[in-house]
Amino acid sequence: MPQISNHAPYSANPIVHALPAARTLAELRGRDLLTLTQLTKPCVLELFALATRLKRDRVERGDYARRLLDNRTIILIFEKASLRTRITFETGAGLLGARAIYMDHSQQRLGVRESIKDYGKNLERWLDAIVARVYSQAAIEELAEHAAVPVINALSDRFHPCQGLADLLTVYERRDLETQSRKDEVGEGFAIGGEQPRIAYVGDGNNVCHSLMHAAVMLGCHITVITPKNYGPEAGVVAECEGLAKTNGGSIEVTTKLAAVERHHAVYTDVWVSMGQADEEGKRLKVFADYQIDGDLMSKASSGLPASWGGAKFMHCLPARRGVEVTDDVIDAPTSIVYDQAENRMHAQNALMAAILAK
Ligand code: CP
Ligand code: NVA
Repeated sequence: MPQISNHAPYSANPIVHALPAARTLAELRGRDLLTLTQLTKPCVLELFALATRLKRDRVERGDYARRLLDNRTIILIFEKASLRTRITFETGAGLLGARAIYMDHSQQRLGVRESIKDYGKNLERWLDAIVARVYSQAAIEELAEHAAVPVINALSDRFHPCQGLADLLTVYERRDLETQSRKDEVGEGFAIGGEQPRIAYVGDGNNVCHSLMHAAVMLGCHITVITPKNYGPEAGVVAECEGLAKTNGGSIEVTTKLAAVERHHAVYTDVWVSMGQADEEGKRLKVFADYQIDGDLMSKASSGLPASWGGAKFMHCLPARRGVEVTDDVIDAPTSIVYDQAENRMHAQNALMAAILAK
C-alpha cells in the first residue's frame, strides 16, 4: 500500500476532464493534454510510431515533418525556468512548419494581471495552441477550461506529461524488436529480454514521478516507486495507476525500502528540490540523503537481469544536481540514457503537436 504522502489532495477540473481518454491518435485532434490519464495505451503506442517516424525524418534531413503544422502558431507560457522543454517545443514547432512565441511569465503568476479566463479568451483569438509551464495544475486546468484552443501541460506542480511520454519512448526504443510486430497486432505493449519492462523510480514522489507512473503502467510495465516516508506519490495518482495497471497489464509497488530496487531494467531519479521548493531545501537534502543513486545502487538494480540487457539503465528528466541525487560516475556511465531522454522530448512532443493540431 502507498505510504502517506505530503501532497494536498488533487481535485481535477470536471469540465476539462469530461471527455473519455483518447483511444486513438486521431481522437487527440483539438484536445488538451493536461495529464497522461487523458490518453490510452493504443493512443500512446500510435504516438510512439509517429514520434519514431519524425525522429527518423530529422536524422535523414527529410521533409515529412515540414508541412504538418504549416501556418500554425503556438504560444509557450513559462512561469518557471526551462532548457529542454522550451527549446524542444520551439525547435519542434519550427520543424513541423509552425511558429512558436515564447512568453516569459516568471515575474508574475497567471491570473494576477488579469483573470485566467480572460487570458484564455484572448489567446484563443490569435493562436492555435497554448503550451504552459505553471506552478499550479489547477491554473492550467482553468486555462484549458476557458481557452477554446488546445492546452498542453509543459510541467505543473503535479504532472509533467510530455516528460513521461519521452521517458517511456526512450525505454520503448530498447524493446525486443523480434516480438514487437505480434505485440503491436494484439495491442500488448512491449517487452525487454522477453519480460515485462521494470522501472524503479527512486527519490521524490513529485510531478515527474507521477507522469512516469502513469506512462509506465499504461504501457504494461512494472514500476517500483521508492521514496522516503511522507514524500511518496499522491494517493490519488497511485489509485489512478492501479486502475491503469489493471486495464493494461502493468503493475506498481510503492515503498520506502531501497532494497526494492533489485532487478530493474532502469532506475530513474529527479531532483530532491523541485522548482518552487527552495524554502524546503535544507530539510529535503537531509530527508533524501540515503536515496542517492550511486554505483552500488545501480549494481543492486542490475542483479538478476539477463546479461544481454547490459545492466540497469540510469534515467533522469534533467536538470540534475550532480553529487546530490546522483553521483557523477552513474550519470556519466555508458548505461546512462539521460541525453536520449532529452532528445526524445522533442520527438514525442512533435508527434503530440502533430496529432493535436492535425489539419
Ligand atoms: N526535463 C525538463 O523539463 O527540463 P527543463 O526544465 O529544462 O525544461
Ligand atoms: N521536479 C522538477 C522537474 C524539472 C524538470 C521540478 O518540478 O522542478
